[in-house]
Amino acid sequence: MSKTLQAIRGMNDILPEQTPLWRYFEDSVARLLDGYGYRQIRMPIVEFTELFKRSIGEVTDIVEKEMYTFEDRNGDSLTLRPEGTAACVRAVLEHGLAGGGQTQKLWYIGPMFRHERPQKGRYRQFHQIGVEVFNIDGPDIDAELIVLTWRLWGLLGIRDALSLELNSLGTSAARAVYRDALVEYLTARADQLDEDSRRRLSSNPLRVLDSKVPETQALLADAPKLADYLDEESRSHFEGLKARLDAAGIPYVLNPKLVRGLDYYSKTVFEWVTDQLGAQGTVCAGGRYDGLVEQMGGKPTPGVGFAMGIERLVLLLETLDKVPAQIARQVDVYLCAFGEPAELAALTLAERLRDQLPGLRLQVNAGGGSFKSQLKKADKSGALYALVLGEDELARQVVGCKPLRDQGDQQSIAWEALAERLALCLEQA
Ligand code: HAM
Repeated sequence: MSKTLQAIRGMNDILPEQTPLWRYFEDSVARLLDGYGYRQIRMPIVEFTELFKRSIGEVTDIVEKEMYTFEDRNGDSLTLRPEGTAACVRAVLEHGLAGGGQTQKLWYIGPMFRHERPQKGRYRQFHQIGVEVFNIDGPDIDAELIVLTWRLWGLLGIRDALSLELNSLGTSAARAVYRDALVEYLTARADQLDEDSRRRLSSNPLRVLDSKVPETQALLADAPKLADYLDEESRSHFEGLKARLDAAGIPYVLNPKLVRGLDYYSKTVFEWVTDQLGAQGTVCAGGRYDGLVEQMGGKPTPGVGFAMGIERLVLLLETLDKVPAQIARQVDVYLCAFGEPAELAALTLAERLRDQLPGLRLQVNAGGGSFKSQLKKADKSGALYALVLGEDELARQVVGCKPLRDQGDQQSIAWEALAERLALCLEQA
């Protein structure tokens, strides 16, 4: 017997029981973004490897260790996208969407791929909803991005479980000065650094700040602070952002160690974190990347954005018991028919109901079956009502309407009155 095949580790099926919650979440975000004037863009899942190396940075965990890279039949090196910003910038440049300084407010949704060690909330295929804005350089738009996520947490009922961490990485010029000071400080103490940090010292010293090793963190306590090196422009940008968050009543925590794992950031960086999901507590993260478009071959174009992890937010909704009751029901009405003549009538009756009540979730029994077995299927579908159409009902041009979730009696309803009666019943349900 051949071995049954399984999905790849860290890549999950999202089963029918889970998809209603996913759709609820995705629809909520899409509606919210529509309301703020963001437009959807869809990029390919595969891009040239070079794109990610140049944007995310050669010396990052993602590019060094986590990409799914392969050669295609032409010998080109391609990579399954580990995130969406790089491809979005590529698309914006390729189609001139930000040309002439025009503003773009974009969003995307889809799977991303990183070869990380799978655990709760961390997968090798995961899904993000991302937002990117081009050609607005002030802190007002950074604030809008945070305000809209804050509104989303409110709509979903998870605001209390999330906190906002905020930092400014400054302009690249300010960061270069800071980098030199940090390298000088750490080089003098290199013998006390862990191996990873020592390697990063020469390749990407800011990432040392991110180290999880306690001895390294202790060493950093007296190290130069990035905040002291911020140039005037970055400082006033950051103050402008904080003033807007204060005005909007959004609490935040300043976290000078927040440097993010991708190299393209400048000025604002932020993360929404929760303590409800264990180690993988960041549900939404992003920041400003004013140098990225130019670095990718375009004209200087300010950019800012974020991405949220759908798996983590769905998990959070479940953990906090914030799954709305109405999304559990996927069928409103189940139509049972007995015998060929009734089945034929049921077909036209069902189509008429669909015309009359758009949005009605109506399941018509298929595959025949006895009265008992069809009603069992009706019950299992989760429907609120079973409609019964047998020989007798057919002759009288009525259906039996049987409530499945409460004690009411079965009633006989004339076909002409059915749509109106069902609408009324479902409205009250
Ligand atoms: P990121 O921090 O790498 O940023 O990912 C954003 C979010 O995606 C994370 O906060 C997390 O919720 C989710 N995520 C990341 N990796 C995994 C994983 N292995 N399993 C499950 N969820 C995951 C970016 O990707 C940037 N492109 C965000 C951005 C957009 N910055 C500016 N614009």
